[in-house]
Amino acid sequence: MSETPVLRVADITKTYHVNSSVLARLSRGDGRKSSLSALDGVDLQLNKGEILALVGESGSGKSTLAKILVGSTTPTSGEVDYHGAPMPLHRDKDASRRIQMVFQDPYSSLNPRISVGSMLKELLLLHKIVPRSEVRAESVRLLNLVGLEEDALQAYPSQFSGGQRQRIAIARALAVRPDILIADEPVSALDVSVQATILELFASLQRELGLSILFVAHNLAVVQHLSQRVAVMYLGRIVEVAETAELFRNPRHPYTRALIDSIPRMSAESINEEFVLEGEPPSPFDIPPGCRFNPRCPYASDACRTTDPALATVAPQHESACIRASELDVLAITLTQRTAGESAA
Ligand SMILES: Nc1ncnc2c1ncn2[C@@H]1O[C@H](COP(=O)(O)OP(=O)(O)OP(=O)(O)O)[C@@H](O)[C@H]1O
Ligand SMILES: [Mg+2]
Repeated sequence: MSETPVLRVADITKTYHVNSSVLARLSRGDGRKSSLSALDGVDLQLNKGEILALVGESGSGKSTLAKILVGSTTPTSGEVDYHGAPMPLHRDKDASRRIQMVFQDPYSSLNPRISVGSMLKELLLLHKIVPRSEVRAESVRLLNLVGLEEDALQAYPSQFSGGQRQRIAIARALAVRPDILIADEPVSALDVSVQATILELFASLQRELGLSILFVAHNLAVVQHLSQRVAVMYLGRIVEVAETAELFRNPRHPYTRALIDSIPRMSAESINEEFVLEGEPPSPFDIPPGCRFNPRCPYASDACRTTDPALATVAPQHESACIRASELDVLAITLTQRTAGESAA
């Protein structure tokens, strides 16, 4: 039997009730609805020692799920299990310590008035990680772990580059010895050249500390070489989940296929231009009936407009929420031929 996941969520929903301010009405466009469904029946598990990528467009609910996992938001319904046991709604200090978050913008997540050394010291003492006499050595160990030197202890966040600040934010998360990191788009705000070095840092933390990591990203390209598994989120639901290589080789949801197609390729050979994702995702105030992806899907049939599909196994360790999952390769060929015919005419 496989090992118990370190984290598991079952049938998680999150509904936000939005006040009736003019701005709220404008943003939802209809002037009537006052609640939105940010998560709508999410099932997901994080296995011990893996990096699981959570990918999807803006507004799909990635951060909401991340916040539920670290306990900073409560779900409207559903369960969160930690090592196989229900996580209490109000986590104690120890439960909070074990799941740490790394945010997109390290600058706003670090206090500019506190030096790196003071920040680490405060955490190490508060959580009784080491005795006072060992605080300095432990702080240096943490800095080295994230690729920084001892002299960073005296410095303030503003004295570092974006990539270094993210390293400090990671050191802060590691200071309390978590076993799980939830990283919410930790490289999205960084220069492309710096992104690769931070991705490598996450990979080394996984290897060296055996951490289990949920890594949130907009873009599949970012996680292709980092994660062992990928969960694709669309409008508050996981629509496909598989091991990373399998997902890229054998995508079984049209949305995933579009995300893969949108990755710029090195070699023209590997381009598989099936269809381009058009339009904005539908509003979470007004989720379409049937499959929520159907208004943007070139393969939507009548059944897709009425049946709301659940995740189902399509291959070993591979689930998709598309009722046409097994037909997609044939549908793609027909679509590509039709598009080619239209452009030739
Ligand atoms: N506190 C809140 N109150 C009301 N609505 C919210 C709140 N937080 C998030 N939402 C809404 O919930 C939906 C999901 O938001 P969330 O931030 O989880 O998406 P995301 O996938 O992280 O997007 P991004 O990629 O832009 O970070 C969005 O429609 C968002 O506007
Ligand atoms: Mg987000």
